[in-house]
Amino acid sequence: MKTPIILVNFKIYNEISGARGLELAKICEDVSSKTGVNISIAPQIIDLSYISEKVSIPIFSQHVDNIKPGSGTGKTTLEGIKAAKAVGTLINHSENRLKIADIDSIINRCRELGLISVVCTNTISVSKAVAMFNPTFIAVEPPELIGGDISVTDADPGIVKNTVKTIRDIAPDVKVLCGAGVKNGKDVKKAIELGAEGVLLASGVTKAKNPREVLEDLAKGAMK
Ligand code: G3P
Repeated sequence: MKTPIILVNFKIYNEISGARGLELAKICEDVSSKTGVNISIAPQIIDLSYISEKVSIPIFSQHVDNIKPGSGTGKTTLEGIKAAKAVGTLINHSENRLKIADIDSIINRCRELGLISVVCTNTISVSKAVAMFNPTFIAVEPPELIGGDISVTDADPGIVKNTVKTIRDIAPDVKVLCGAGVKNGKDVKKAIELGAEGVLLASGVTKAKNPREVLEDLAKGAMK
């Protein structure tokens, strides 16, 4: 996957439900193709298939359960998201935590199925533990900064820098993203300077009055 990456998590905000989710996905696709920056999206799971039919940027699931296809009412499988043309999934997001045994198993099954694993973590020690499982990406997000106005890159640059350093020593192929409060190109630039390969963000885009303008600015921060 091309980096730096700007991964926009739509979460379950009202602003992205139904047709508005597709509208935002198309804006992301347009800004990505005009700037050449990898803008990937994690739409609401219910819209995965619908949106992936209509845009060509990489699409991630927001969550999967550690379960194989069969009886499991209401759960989401890796096979299901792959069939919906997702390229990968977020795992262990702060708003949908998993047990460590499930994280390990989902990462292994992602590998078997050729899917990208993006595991969210909240501290350096959790990142360290997850690095042992060799996911594709670790996205460090201090929960207290999620949805807020101060970017992790300003509020706690040390957690980004030290996560990168720690993971490089354990699993040099694992790429690091950072998120929480990221809002503009300056935050993206700083994330990259701190050693991250991109950002994971939500409200800065989903709740913006003009998401296109915000995305253009974010993309600028990812350009050399
Ligand atoms: O998944 C991204 C997220 O948790 C960060 O949210 O709204 O602070 O960009 P936000």
